[in-house]
Amino acid sequence: MHWRGLIEEYKAYLPVDDDTPRLTLYEGGTPLIRLDALSRKFEAELYAKVEGHNPTGSFKDRGMVMAVAKAKEAGAHTVICASTGNTSASAAAYASRAGLKTIVVVPEGKIALGKLAQAMMYGAEIISIQGNFDEALKVVRKIAEKNDGITLVNSVNPYRLEGQKTAAFEIAEVLGTAPDYLTIPVGNAGNISAYWKGFKEYDAKNDSGLPKIYGFEAEGAAAIVNDRVIEQPETVATAIRIGNPASWSLAVEARDESGGLIESVTDEEILKAYEMLAAAEGIFAEPGSNASTAGMIRALEEGKIEKGATVVAVLTGNGLKDPETAMEQIIKKPKLLPNDEGQIIDYIEGLGEN
Ligand code: F0G
Repeated sequence: MHWRGLIEEYKAYLPVDDDTPRLTLYEGGTPLIRLDALSRKFEAELYAKVEGHNPTGSFKDRGMVMAVAKAKEAGAHTVICASTGNTSASAAAYASRAGLKTIVVVPEGKIALGKLAQAMMYGAEIISIQGNFDEALKVVRKIAEKNDGITLVNSVNPYRLEGQKTAAFEIAEVLGTAPDYLTIPVGNAGNISAYWKGFKEYDAKNDSGLPKIYGFEAEGAAAIVNDRVIEQPETVATAIRIGNPASWSLAVEARDESGGLIESVTDEEILKAYEMLAAAEGIFAEPGSNASTAGMIRALEEGKIEKGATVVAVLTGNGLKDPETAMEQIIKKPKLLPNDEGQIIDYIEGLGEN
């Protein structure tokens, strides 16, 4: 049947009623793709939940459709957020569609090009600050508190987690049960909290079981792992360049209740997984997303995930959002040749020989 978008599909699980606008860009319903090469290599059942298929190319759309619909229902005229990029793109898209204004505050020079282009195209008011995400979040929280009519749509807005929990439902629906493990990137820690909430709610209604939640921060931004705020977070994975996660305690709860873990992965591990996933499985996910791929691979290598286990790695955003990292990191560059048919043919035929 035709997919009707998140609110319509999951209204039985969401805080919506007849007054809630039926906002949608047909978010959700994303594919769960079996990772054939990796499953063979590690003798396990490995899958990716490919959230880059959402309308603005990231999982944020699940939370944003709810947050913006509820802001509209409550009579807001503007939504505001801090962002490492994806939240701003998603907020701007849904707010435009709902007829609301968008204000976003972002860390200067640390937003992937595609995400910035999206927010600009969707018509957001963009303020770029000489500070990081955590500082941007502090400011927008203050503005939203002081101004009726301006709704904060970062993941501290509870409707965000409500929307995002639906990805867990979809995984359990496709597999028939929850997976044994879920691996997921951790930035501001909203998504890991949303998945755990989703698996618990789905299990309560459908007896689908619960996964162990394995969260992965970037090593240079690993606040939860180190149990302290990181004042100057740094990582190539700009999406998760966050030193003071807002949903810190909820993430710890998800880890502990599920019998899971939260560890960090290095930029090197992230980039290696990023390139491998695209080249070996045909799935191009942005660097931050591959914290979950890198973490899954390490957990398999270290025996923290056993052979035969079913694992879902959450790929939070589309690789096209960050063309600069791809171009900088990829070792195999395009071959430059003159426009000479003979030379081009010789080169291409030569490729087959080795
Ligand atoms: N992956 C991607 C691609 C993200 O954009 C984010 C967060 C995360 C993972 C981490 O999710 O914050 O719920 O733990 N991006 C936010 C943003 C912060 O502004 O776009 P989280």
